[in-house]
Amino acid sequence: MTEIKLFCPATIANLSCGFDVLGLCLDNAGDEMIVRKVTQKGIRITKITGADLPLETEKNVSGVAAVAMLEAYERDFEPITVGFEIEIYKHIKAGSGIGSSAASSAGAVFGINELLGRPYSRKDLVQFAMQGEKLASGNAHADNVAPALLGGFTLVRSYSPLDIIRIDSPEELFATVVHPQIELKTSDARSVLKQTVSLKSAIMQWGNVGGLIAGLYTKDYDLIGRSLHDEIVEPLRSVLIPGFDLIKQTALENGALGSGISGSGPSIFALSRGKETADKIAKAMSEVYENMNLPYEIHVSKINPDGVRIL
Ligand code: HSE
Repeated sequence: MTEIKLFCPATIANLSCGFDVLGLCLDNAGDEMIVRKVTQKGIRITKITGADLPLETEKNVSGVAAVAMLEAYERDFEPITVGFEIEIYKHIKAGSGIGSSAASSAGAVFGINELLGRPYSRKDLVQFAMQGEKLASGNAHADNVAPALLGGFTLVRSYSPLDIIRIDSPEELFATVVHPQIELKTSDARSVLKQTVSLKSAIMQWGNVGGLIAGLYTKDYDLIGRSLHDEIVEPLRSVLIPGFDLIKQTALENGALGSGISGSGPSIFALSRGKETADKIAKAMSEVYENMNLPYEIHVSKINPDGVRIL
């Protein structure tokens, strides 16, 4: 095999209570990518459509993630005698809050790993894809790249050492994600955060993280909903997102289990039980932005159990 075509899924990071540690994988929103093994050594980004992104390997998140992986491969296994070309077909907008850079980073390392005969596990690949996130936002968080690679829900239990736990999603869980068409850079959305939290807020937050994980394992939809609360980040970031309070309130009034900022925003997500409710929430959210005369994109998706996949 010398060429591989991939679906690189969008993801929702944080999930309200789990800043930088929780994420889930979407099923019907994502990019495509072609990765090709060539005789000329090195990594080259040969084509990008759908976004104005740099082709230079060291300035492109897929390039940086791929280089990190090849360097590790040479340390772990043997010298590399081939090179790789990457074509990226972007559908996820940069700065949308649904893991645009993560999709590209995850796709590149997954594709190269397949063409090398799968020397690394999907979990191993997370550490390389994180280098793309570092380039994109200044911080090597894993809460988008982990679900993009592993599918389902993921928890980063620890960054050092990296310890990632994949959690199955209850069958009937659906996500609705609305993207008001403004760009919010993750680095800007991180700059509004405080570096310390009160013990009172921390107690509420880790109670909810535990609750959300327990709810996923026991398929307790009400517990999942009760746990989708963010005491720390949402109050500081929501002011950057037009109509946030009204969209969230509308989602809850239309049956959402919970709603919050998707990743670093400006997208807003809601989780619900069943596609019918997820569609109803999408319609109601759309009406809010239509009344505000604000262009938007909306996705209704089941949780993608697989992560990046070969097309
Ligand atoms: N956890 C990261 C943040 C996700 O919220 O800054 C960025 O998509």
